[in-house]
Amino acid sequence: MATSSRVMRFNFLSIAALASFAATASAQGNSCPEASRFGNVQVSPSTLSPGETFTVTADLTCAIQLGNTPTFLDYYISATATHTVSGPILIARRTYDNSTSPPIDKFTAVLPHWFYFADATYSLLMDNSFARAGPTGESVITTGGILTPINITGF
Ligand SMILES: *[C@@H]1O[C@H](CO)[C@@H](O)[C@H](O)[C@H]1NC(C)=O
Ligand SMILES: *[C@@H]1O[C@H](CO)[C@@H](O)[C@H](O)[C@H]1NC(C)=O
Repeated sequence: MATSSRVMRFNFLSIAALASFAATASAQGNSCPEASRFGNVQVSPSTLSPGETFTVTADLTCAIQLGNTPTFLDYYISATATHTVSGPILIARRTYDNSTSPPIDKFTAVLPHWFYFADATYSLLMDNSFARAGPTGESVITTGGILTPINITGF
């Protein structure tokens, strides 16, 4: 009975130690959250008027780490509203060079004069088009996007 109890305690400690080790390993493996699988994108300034110059900075570290290395990066301004809105509007279409170090795509753009609405919610959309092997091994380009909120004023 005493032996059995000691064995059980030993097992418990082993499992606790393994669990703690696994949690540490898993925390390191999760350094790239699912939300960053196509990259992260920032706009500065994030409140813009038509004709204004802004800087876009896309960090592709997580996209590349998760196997979504961009071939092309397309950037759009997209709008949502309770009524119909036109769009998205293309801001930049860029070819990504995977030898870029650090893996950042940074450029400036000018917000076009367009049909904006005071009641719409605006975002910058980055579409990452990356190659994937299809069922026969053929390389196919597929796309995933990430949005970052912006404000558009002064129109
Ligand atoms: C892009 O570069 C990274 C880092 O060097 C590498 O791990 C990855 O395999 C490359 N992806 C492609 C599609 O070449
Ligand atoms: C948009 O404007 C609102 C109101 O001024 C502000 O609270 C919010 O932080 C702005 N968002 C961005 C992305 O700049």
